[in-house]
Amino acid sequence: ADGALRDQRLRPWRDLRISLTDRCNFRCGYCMPRSRFGPGHRFQPQAHLLSFEEIAQVARQALALGVRTLRLTGGEPLLRRDLPELVRQLSRLRTLDGTPPDLALTTNGSLLAGQARELREAGLGRLTVSLDALDDAVFQRMNDVGFPVAEVLRGLEVAAQAGFERIKINMVVRRGVNDDEALPLAEHFRGSGMVLRFIEFMDAGSHNGWKLDEVLPSDELRARIHAHWPLLPLQATRGGETAQRWRYADGGGEVGFISSVSHAFCGDCTRARLTAEGRLYTCLFAARGHDLRPLLRGAQGGEAELREQLAAIWAQRADAYSEQRERLRAEQHERADMHVLGG
Ligand code: GTP
Ligand code: 5AD
Ligand code: SF4
Ligand code: SF4
Repeated sequence: ADGALRDQRLRPWRDLRISLTDRCNFRCGYCMPRSRFGPGHRFQPQAHLLSFEEIAQVARQALALGVRTLRLTGGEPLLRRDLPELVRQLSRLRTLDGTPPDLALTTNGSLLAGQARELREAGLGRLTVSLDALDDAVFQRMNDVGFPVAEVLRGLEVAAQAGFERIKINMVVRRGVNDDEALPLAEHFRGSGMVLRFIEFMDAGSHNGWKLDEVLPSDELRARIHAHWPLLPLQATRGGETAQRWRYADGGGEVGFISSVSHAFCGDCTRARLTAEGRLYTCLFAARGHDLRPLLRGAQGGEAELREQLAAIWAQRADAYSEQRERLRAEQHERADMHVLGG
Protein backbone atom coordinates (compact mmCIF):
# COMPACT_ATOMS: atom_id res chain seq x y z
CA ALA A 1 0.00 0.00 0.00
CA ASP A 2 2.85 2.38 0.81
CA GLY A 3 4.60 1.42 -2.41
CA ALA A 4 7.41 -0.32 -0.52
CA LEU A 5 8.96 -3.49 -1.83
CA ARG A 6 7.06 -6.64 -0.77
CA ASP A 7 7.49 -10.32 -1.59
CA GLN A 8 4.71 -12.69 -2.72
CA ARG A 9 3.45 -12.94 0.87
CA LEU A 10 3.63 -9.17 1.38
CA ARG A 11 6.73 -9.37 3.55
CA PRO A 12 9.13 -6.40 3.36
CA TRP A 13 12.90 -6.88 3.11
CA ARG A 14 14.59 -5.63 6.28
CA ASP A 15 17.67 -7.78 6.92
CA LEU A 16 20.65 -8.72 4.82
CA ARG A 17 22.85 -11.45 6.30
CA ILE A 18 26.30 -11.35 4.73
CA SER A 19 28.53 -14.43 4.88
CA LEU A 20 32.20 -13.46 4.69
CA THR A 21 33.70 -16.94 4.40
CA ASP A 22 32.56 -20.55 4.41
CA ARG A 23 35.57 -21.48 6.56
CA CYS A 24 35.36 -22.16 10.25
CA ASN A 25 37.80 -23.30 12.93
CA PHE A 26 35.02 -25.30 14.67
CA ARG A 27 33.34 -28.49 13.48
CA CYS A 28 29.96 -28.35 15.24
CA GLY A 29 28.16 -31.58 14.43
CA TYR A 30 24.93 -29.76 13.55
CA CYS A 31 26.66 -27.56 11.00
CA MET A 32 30.02 -28.89 9.71
CA PRO A 33 30.32 -32.47 10.94
CA ARG A 34 33.96 -33.56 10.84
CA SER A 35 33.09 -36.74 8.95
CA ARG A 36 31.96 -34.61 6.04
CA PHE A 37 34.19 -31.53 6.43
CA GLY A 38 37.59 -33.14 6.94
CA PRO A 39 41.01 -32.13 5.65
CA GLY A 40 40.01 -32.99 2.06
CA HIS A 41 37.05 -30.58 1.95
CA ARG A 42 37.35 -27.87 -0.68
CA PHE A 43 36.26 -24.49 0.57
CA GLN A 44 35.31 -21.58 -1.65
CA PRO A 45 38.52 -20.44 -3.37
CA GLN A 46 39.86 -17.05 -2.26
CA ALA A 47 39.55 -15.67 -5.79
CA HIS A 48 35.78 -16.29 -5.79
CA LEU A 49 35.06 -14.27 -2.66
CA LEU A 50 33.33 -10.94 -3.06
CA SER A 51 35.65 -8.02 -2.33
CA PHE A 52 34.73 -5.51 0.36
CA GLU A 53 33.75 -3.06 -2.40
CA GLU A 54 31.39 -5.62 -3.92
CA ILE A 55 29.86 -6.45 -0.55
CA ALA A 56 29.35 -2.75 0.10
CA GLN A 57 27.68 -2.35 -3.31
CA VAL A 58 25.14 -5.05 -2.53
CA ALA A 59 24.59 -3.65 0.97
CA ARG A 60 24.12 -0.11 -0.35
CA GLN A 61 21.44 -1.21 -2.82
CA ALA A 62 19.74 -3.42 -0.25
CA LEU A 63 19.53 -0.42 2.10
CA ALA A 64 18.08 1.61 -0.76
CA LEU A 65 15.31 -1.03 -0.97
CA GLY A 66 14.39 -0.76 2.71
CA VAL A 67 16.89 -3.04 4.49
CA ARG A 68 17.89 -1.80 7.95
CA THR A 69 20.02 -4.56 9.47
CA LEU A 70 23.28 -5.87 8.06
CA ARG A 71 24.47 -8.99 9.88
CA LEU A 72 27.94 -10.38 9.18
CA THR A 73 28.21 -14.17 9.40
CA GLY A 74 30.28 -17.06 8.09
CA GLY A 75 31.49 -19.78 8.55
CA GLU A 76 33.39 -17.83 11.11
CA PRO A 77 33.48 -14.15 10.09
CA LEU A 78 36.45 -13.30 12.34
CA LEU A 79 38.58 -15.46 10.04
CA ARG A 80 38.10 -12.90 7.25
CA ARG A 81 41.17 -10.72 6.87
CA ASP A 82 40.78 -6.97 7.55
CA LEU A 83 37.27 -7.41 8.93
CA PRO A 84 37.34 -4.05 10.80
CA GLU A 85 37.90 -2.30 7.48
CA LEU A 86 34.71 -3.84 6.07
CA VAL A 87 32.83 -2.83 9.23
CA ARG A 88 34.06 0.75 8.76
CA GLN A 89 32.89 0.78 5.14
CA LEU A 90 29.45 -0.63 6.00
CA SER A 91 28.98 1.74 8.94
CA ARG A 92 29.29 4.68 6.55
CA LEU A 93 26.26 3.52 4.51
CA ARG A 94 22.79 4.88 5.23
CA THR A 95 19.27 3.45 5.38
CA LEU A 96 16.34 5.06 3.58
CA ASP A 97 15.72 7.11 6.73
CA GLY A 98 19.24 8.50 6.54
CA THR A 99 20.32 6.66 9.69
CA PRO A 100 23.33 4.32 9.89
CA PRO A 101 22.47 0.64 9.38
CA ASP A 102 21.98 -1.65 12.38
CA LEU A 103 25.32 -3.50 12.08
CA ALA A 104 25.55 -6.90 13.78
CA LEU A 105 27.82 -9.94 13.68
CA THR A 106 27.40 -13.60 14.62
CA THR A 107 30.58 -15.40 15.74
CA ASN A 108 31.68 -18.55 17.54
CA GLY A 109 33.65 -16.31 19.91
CA SER A 110 36.95 -18.17 19.60
CA LEU A 111 38.85 -15.15 18.24
CA LEU A 112 36.81 -12.49 19.98
CA ALA A 113 39.22 -11.57 22.79
CA GLY A 114 41.72 -10.30 20.24
CA GLN A 115 39.24 -8.51 17.97
CA ALA A 116 36.24 -7.27 19.98
CA ARG A 117 37.60 -3.84 20.78
CA GLU A 118 38.74 -3.07 17.26
CA LEU A 119 35.40 -4.21 15.81
CA ARG A 120 33.49 -2.00 18.22
CA GLU A 121 35.71 0.97 17.35
CA ALA A 122 35.15 0.29 13.65
CA GLY A 123 31.39 0.73 14.17
CA LEU A 124 29.99 -2.73 14.89
CA GLY A 125 26.85 -2.21 16.97
CA ARG A 126 25.60 -5.61 18.08
CA LEU A 127 27.30 -8.92 18.70
CA THR A 128 25.94 -12.47 18.89
CA VAL A 129 28.15 -15.25 20.21
CA SER A 130 27.32 -18.95 19.81
CA LEU A 131 27.85 -20.95 23.00
CA ASP A 132 26.43 -24.45 23.29
CA ALA A 133 27.67 -25.43 26.76
CA LEU A 134 29.33 -24.05 29.88
CA ASP A 135 30.91 -27.35 30.87
CA ASP A 136 34.27 -27.61 29.13
CA ALA A 137 33.96 -31.28 28.20
CA VAL A 138 30.53 -30.79 26.64
CA PHE A 139 31.67 -27.61 24.89
CA GLN A 140 34.68 -29.37 23.37
CA ARG A 141 32.48 -32.21 22.21
CA MET A 142 30.12 -29.70 20.58
CA ASN A 143 32.86 -27.78 18.71
CA ASP A 144 34.71 -31.05 18.02
CA VAL A 145 38.10 -29.35 17.73
CA GLY A 146 38.97 -29.33 21.42
CA PHE A 147 38.43 -25.60 21.80
CA PRO A 148 38.21 -24.59 25.49
CA VAL A 149 35.12 -22.78 26.72
CA ALA A 150 37.26 -20.51 28.92
CA GLU A 151 38.62 -18.73 25.85
CA VAL A 152 35.12 -17.94 24.55
CA LEU A 153 34.15 -16.66 28.00
CA ARG A 154 37.26 -14.47 27.97
CA GLY A 155 36.19 -13.13 24.56
CA LEU A 156 32.79 -12.29 26.03
CA GLU A 157 34.43 -10.40 28.90
CA VAL A 158 36.48 -8.33 26.50
CA ALA A 159 33.37 -7.71 24.39
CA ALA A 160 31.38 -6.63 27.44
CA GLN A 161 34.11 -4.06 28.23
CA ALA A 162 34.12 -2.82 24.64
CA GLY A 163 30.65 -1.28 24.99
CA PHE A 164 28.52 -2.98 22.33
CA GLU A 165 24.88 -1.85 22.18
CA ARG A 166 23.74 -5.42 22.73
CA ILE A 167 25.35 -8.84 23.18
CA LYS A 168 23.35 -12.02 22.60
CA ILE A 169 24.35 -15.61 23.25
CA ASN A 170 23.01 -18.39 20.97
CA MET A 171 22.75 -21.94 22.28
CA VAL A 172 21.74 -24.67 19.82
CA VAL A 173 19.95 -27.31 21.91
CA ARG A 174 20.07 -31.01 21.02
CA ARG A 175 18.12 -33.31 23.26
CA GLY A 176 20.36 -35.87 24.89
CA VAL A 177 23.50 -34.11 23.65
CA ASN A 178 23.73 -30.74 25.40
CA ASP A 179 20.25 -30.02 26.78
CA ASP A 180 21.60 -30.46 30.33
CA GLU A 181 23.63 -27.31 29.73
CA ALA A 182 20.59 -25.07 29.25
CA LEU A 183 20.03 -24.39 32.96
CA PRO A 184 23.72 -23.75 33.75
CA LEU A 185 23.89 -21.32 30.83
CA ALA A 186 20.69 -19.62 31.97
CA GLU A 187 22.13 -19.25 35.45
CA HIS A 188 25.45 -17.95 34.12
CA PHE A 189 23.90 -15.21 31.99
CA ARG A 190 21.08 -14.17 34.33
CA GLY A 191 21.79 -10.65 35.46
CA SER A 192 24.68 -10.21 33.01
CA GLY A 193 22.86 -7.88 30.63
CA MET A 194 23.53 -10.36 27.82
CA VAL A 195 20.51 -12.06 26.26
CA LEU A 196 20.70 -15.86 26.07
CA ARG A 197 18.67 -17.46 23.26
CA PHE A 198 17.89 -21.14 22.88
CA ILE A 199 17.71 -22.41 19.32
CA GLU A 200 15.90 -25.56 18.28
CA PHE A 201 18.17 -27.91 16.34
CA MET A 202 17.21 -27.42 12.68
CA ASP A 203 17.40 -29.59 9.57
CA ALA A 204 19.72 -27.16 7.79
CA GLY A 205 21.92 -28.40 4.96
CA SER A 206 22.03 -32.07 4.06
CA HIS A 207 24.79 -33.41 6.28
CA ASN A 208 23.87 -32.85 9.90
CA GLY A 209 21.95 -36.07 10.54
CA TRP A 210 18.93 -34.16 11.81
CA LYS A 211 16.32 -36.19 13.64
CA LEU A 212 13.12 -34.88 15.14
CA ASP A 213 13.83 -36.73 18.44
CA GLU A 214 16.84 -34.48 18.98
CA VAL A 215 14.73 -31.34 18.82
CA LEU A 216 13.80 -30.17 22.29
CA PRO A 217 10.68 -28.07 21.70
CA SER A 218 11.02 -24.59 23.14
CA ASP A 219 7.83 -24.92 25.20
CA GLU A 220 9.34 -27.86 27.05
CA LEU A 221 12.63 -26.08 27.61
CA ARG A 222 10.86 -22.93 28.73
CA ALA A 223 8.92 -24.95 31.30
CA ARG A 224 12.19 -26.33 32.68
CA ILE A 225 13.61 -22.84 33.08
CA HIS A 226 10.35 -21.45 34.42
CA ALA A 227 10.42 -24.10 37.17
CA HIS A 228 13.68 -22.60 38.47
CA TRP A 229 13.20 -18.94 37.64
CA PRO A 230 9.66 -17.88 36.69
CA LEU A 231 9.39 -16.24 33.27
CA LEU A 232 7.02 -13.60 31.91
CA PRO A 233 6.40 -12.95 28.19
CA LEU A 234 7.75 -9.84 26.48
CA GLN A 235 6.42 -8.09 23.39
CA ALA A 236 8.40 -8.42 20.18
CA THR A 237 10.63 -5.39 19.72
CA ARG A 238 10.00 -5.35 15.98
CA GLY A 239 8.28 -7.42 13.32
CA GLY A 240 10.21 -10.28 11.80
CA GLU A 241 12.10 -11.27 14.92
CA THR A 242 13.44 -14.84 15.14
CA ALA A 243 13.09 -15.18 18.91
CA GLN A 244 10.13 -15.22 21.27
CA ARG A 245 11.26 -13.03 24.14
CA TRP A 246 10.70 -13.69 27.85
CA ARG A 247 12.01 -12.06 31.00
CA TYR A 248 12.79 -13.40 34.45
CA ALA A 249 10.11 -12.29 36.88
CA ASP A 250 12.80 -11.52 39.49
CA GLY A 251 14.56 -8.98 37.27
CA GLY A 252 17.30 -11.35 36.05
CA GLY A 253 16.94 -10.04 32.50
CA GLU A 254 15.75 -11.48 29.20
CA VAL A 255 15.93 -14.85 27.41
CA GLY A 256 14.77 -15.84 23.93
CA PHE A 257 13.53 -18.99 22.20
CA ILE A 258 14.12 -19.52 18.48
CA SER A 259 11.65 -22.22 17.52
CA SER A 260 11.93 -22.80 13.81
CA VAL A 261 10.67 -26.38 14.21
CA SER A 262 7.89 -26.10 16.79
CA HIS A 263 6.67 -22.56 15.96
CA ALA A 264 7.68 -21.50 12.46
CA PHE A 265 8.21 -17.77 12.05
CA CYS A 266 8.09 -17.52 8.24
CA GLY A 267 4.99 -15.35 8.36
CA ASP A 268 6.98 -12.19 8.85
CA CYS A 269 10.42 -13.32 7.71
CA THR A 270 12.28 -10.29 6.39
CA ARG A 271 15.69 -11.90 5.80
CA ALA A 272 17.85 -12.58 2.76
CA ARG A 273 21.32 -14.12 2.77
CA LEU A 274 24.35 -13.26 0.67
CA THR A 275 27.04 -15.94 0.41
CA ALA A 276 30.73 -15.10 0.41
CA GLU A 277 30.75 -15.94 -3.31
CA GLY A 278 27.94 -13.53 -4.11
CA ARG A 279 24.82 -15.65 -4.29
CA LEU A 280 21.63 -14.29 -2.76
CA TYR A 281 19.34 -16.78 -1.00
CA THR A 282 15.83 -15.77 0.05
CA CYS A 283 15.49 -18.63 2.55
CA LEU A 284 17.79 -20.50 4.92
CA PHE A 285 16.49 -23.73 3.44
CA ALA A 286 16.60 -22.82 -0.24
CA ALA A 287 18.32 -25.22 -2.61
CA ARG A 288 19.72 -22.46 -4.78
CA GLY A 289 20.58 -18.79 -4.74
CA HIS A 290 20.72 -16.02 -7.31
CA ASP A 291 24.23 -15.36 -8.58
CA LEU A 292 24.90 -11.62 -8.31
CA ARG A 293 28.49 -11.82 -9.52
CA PRO A 294 27.78 -11.24 -13.22
CA LEU A 295 26.12 -7.95 -12.25
CA LEU A 296 28.85 -7.01 -9.82
CA ARG A 297 31.77 -7.87 -12.05
CA GLY A 298 30.32 -7.12 -15.46
CA ALA A 299 30.04 -3.44 -14.51
CA GLN A 300 27.45 -2.91 -17.24
CA GLY A 301 24.38 -1.13 -15.95
CA GLY A 302 26.04 -0.34 -12.64
CA GLU A 303 24.31 -0.09 -9.34
CA ALA A 304 20.88 0.87 -10.68
CA GLU A 305 20.70 -2.44 -12.49
CA LEU A 306 21.87 -4.28 -9.39
CA ARG A 307 19.09 -2.62 -7.40
CA GLU A 308 16.47 -3.62 -9.97
CA GLN A 309 17.71 -7.17 -9.91
CA LEU A 310 17.58 -7.31 -6.11
CA ALA A 311 14.07 -5.87 -6.10
CA ALA A 312 12.95 -8.45 -8.68
CA ILE A 313 14.40 -11.31 -6.62
CA TRP A 314 12.64 -10.11 -3.47
CA ALA A 315 9.35 -9.47 -5.28
CA GLN A 316 9.29 -13.09 -6.54
CA ARG A 317 10.03 -14.60 -3.15
CA ALA A 318 7.46 -17.00 -1.70
CA ASP A 319 9.63 -19.06 0.71
CA ALA A 320 8.17 -20.47 3.91
CA TYR A 321 10.15 -23.66 4.46
CA SER A 322 9.67 -24.01 8.21
CA GLU A 323 5.91 -23.74 7.85
CA GLN A 324 5.91 -26.51 5.25
CA ARG A 325 8.76 -28.54 6.67
CA GLU A 326 7.11 -31.94 6.63
CA ARG A 327 6.09 -31.80 3.01
CA LEU A 328 9.22 -30.04 1.75
CA ARG A 329 11.62 -32.37 3.53
CA ALA A 330 10.17 -35.18 1.49
CA GLU A 331 10.08 -33.30 -1.82
CA GLN A 332 13.17 -31.15 -1.80
CA HIS A 333 16.35 -32.99 -0.98
CA GLU A 334 18.84 -30.26 -1.67
CA ARG A 335 19.43 -27.55 0.88
CA ALA A 336 22.38 -25.20 1.01
CA ASP A 337 24.76 -25.68 3.93
CA MET A 338 24.49 -23.54 7.04
CA HIS A 339 28.19 -22.61 7.06
CA VAL A 340 27.76 -21.27 3.51
CA LEU A 341 24.54 -19.36 4.24
CA GLY A 342 25.61 -18.06 7.64
CA GLY A 343 22.68 -19.41 9.63
P1 GTP B 1 18.71 -10.52 15.75
O1 GTP B 1 18.85 -9.41 14.74
O2 GTP B 1 19.52 -10.23 16.97
O3 GTP B 1 17.31 -10.90 16.06
O4 GTP B 1 19.47 -11.77 15.11
P2 GTP B 1 19.02 -13.14 14.47
O5 GTP B 1 18.30 -13.95 15.50
O6 GTP B 1 18.35 -12.89 13.19
O7 GTP B 1 20.44 -13.76 14.09
P3 GTP B 1 21.34 -14.94 14.63
O8 GTP B 1 22.51 -15.02 13.72
O9 GTP B 1 21.62 -14.74 16.06
O10 GTP B 1 20.43 -16.21 14.41
C1 GTP B 1 19.90 -16.91 15.45
C2 GTP B 1 19.42 -18.27 15.03
O11 GTP B 1 18.22 -18.15 14.33
C3 GTP B 1 20.37 -19.05 14.13
O12 GTP B 1 20.32 -20.40 14.45
C4 GTP B 1 19.81 -18.84 12.79
O13 GTP B 1 20.14 -19.85 11.92
C5 GTP B 1 18.35 -18.82 13.12
N1 GTP B 1 17.68 -18.05 12.09
C6 GTP B 1 17.96 -16.77 11.76
N2 GTP B 1 17.17 -16.37 10.77
C7 GTP B 1 16.38 -17.44 10.48
C8 GTP B 1 15.36 -17.65 9.54
O14 GTP B 1 15.03 -16.77 8.76
N3 GTP B 1 14.78 -18.87 9.51
C9 GTP B 1 15.13 -19.85 10.36
N4 GTP B 1 14.47 -21.01 10.25
N5 GTP B 1 16.08 -19.69 11.27
C10 GTP B 1 16.71 -18.49 11.31
N1 5AD C 1 20.25 -25.77 13.88
C1 5AD C 1 20.12 -24.66 14.65
N2 5AD C 1 21.03 -23.68 14.70
C2 5AD C 1 22.14 -23.83 13.97
N3 5AD C 1 23.22 -23.02 13.84
C3 5AD C 1 24.05 -23.62 12.95
N4 5AD C 1 23.55 -24.79 12.52
C4 5AD C 1 22.35 -24.94 13.16
C5 5AD C 1 21.34 -25.95 13.12
N5 5AD C 1 21.45 -27.06 12.37
C6 5AD C 1 23.40 -21.76 14.56
C7 5AD C 1 24.77 -21.48 15.08
C8 5AD C 1 24.74 -19.97 15.25
C9 5AD C 1 23.69 -19.51 14.29
C10 5AD C 1 24.11 -18.52 13.27
O1 5AD C 1 23.20 -20.69 13.68
O2 5AD C 1 25.09 -22.07 16.28
O3 5AD C 1 24.39 -19.58 16.54
FE1 SF4 D 1 31.45 -22.92 12.70
FE2 SF4 D 1 29.23 -21.71 13.54
FE3 SF4 D 1 29.07 -23.84 11.92
FE4 SF4 D 1 29.89 -24.17 14.43
S1 SF4 D 1 27.87 -23.45 13.78
S2 SF4 D 1 30.84 -25.07 12.59
S3 SF4 D 1 31.01 -22.30 14.79
S4 SF4 D 1 29.94 -21.87 11.40
FE1 SF4 E 1 12.48 -17.22 6.55
FE2 SF4 E 1 12.90 -19.50 5.24
FE3 SF4 E 1 13.43 -19.31 7.86
FE4 SF4 E 1 10.89 -19.32 7.00
S1 SF4 E 1 12.37 -21.00 6.84
S2 SF4 E 1 11.77 -17.96 8.54
S3 SF4 E 1 11.11 -18.18 5.07
S4 SF4 E 1 14.46 -18.21 6.18
